[in-house]
Amino acid sequence: MSKVYPTPHIDASPRDFAKTVLMPGDPLRAKFIAENFLSGAILVNNVRGIQGYTGTFEGARVSVMASGMGMPSMGIYSYELFNFFEVENIIRIGSAGAINPKIKVRDIVLGMGASYNGNFSHQYRLPGTFAPICDYKTLDICVKTAEELKLKYHVGNILSSDTFYNDEEGLPENMKSASLWGKMGVMAIEMEAAALYMNAARSGKNALAICTISDHLLTGEETSAEERQTSFTDMMNLALITAKKLDKIAQGENL
Ligand code: HPA
Repeated sequence: MSKVYPTPHIDASPRDFAKTVLMPGDPLRAKFIAENFLSGAILVNNVRGIQGYTGTFEGARVSVMASGMGMPSMGIYSYELFNFFEVENIIRIGSAGAINPKIKVRDIVLGMGASYNGNFSHQYRLPGTFAPICDYKTLDICVKTAEELKLKYHVGNILSSDTFYNDEEGLPENMKSASLWGKMGVMAIEMEAAALYMNAARSGKNALAICTISDHLLTGEETSAEERQTSFTDMMNLALITAKKLDKIAQGENL
């Protein structure tokens, strides 16, 4: 596809974005991050209220732009950023519901793989089933950073679900989707990572999903507003330091 600006969903030019973009689902969160975690952030996109900002974090140029909710929305924005705006790395920063007894609310999960229950991969016409995975280098940097920050984190498979509300009332617990995916070792459910990983794979770029656990689908446990804020701040520090390290590596520095 030829590169014309603005694209259907992003009214900006490639130089407006940093090589690494952090993507929360919520546009207001993108604004909050820009105002509270970045220096000198400027608004670079606001089409459909999907706010995108570029600023610096400890000297590294970083962008933050919302993905919206669900694989189609993440699919559109990550496609345009990777393919039209020369973005190299996208780090999703979101929330997820735990489906594994080992995972607790407020923990951080890093999606090494992202299973899915939708049809996003059908566009590739593969003669088999695709396994979306994160970028190993980004994951490695992120894990080392989580260790340095002494955060409680888990690395493994997450599920990108096309539905938040599932018509499972009356089904025995062990037949519900959370239980079935949990039996496969899947840690938590969110709604975007698999689309991000597939777009990264197809365009030869890098992606990672970092999620905080906001609720537990097996125990019903939820986080308070204050706890959500603390775990959000932990996740932001983790994502921003990871982005800074990616920037340093791109500048040729040895970490
Ligand atoms: N399902 C999908 N996405 C989510 C959930 C959930 O239960 N919790 C937080 N994000």
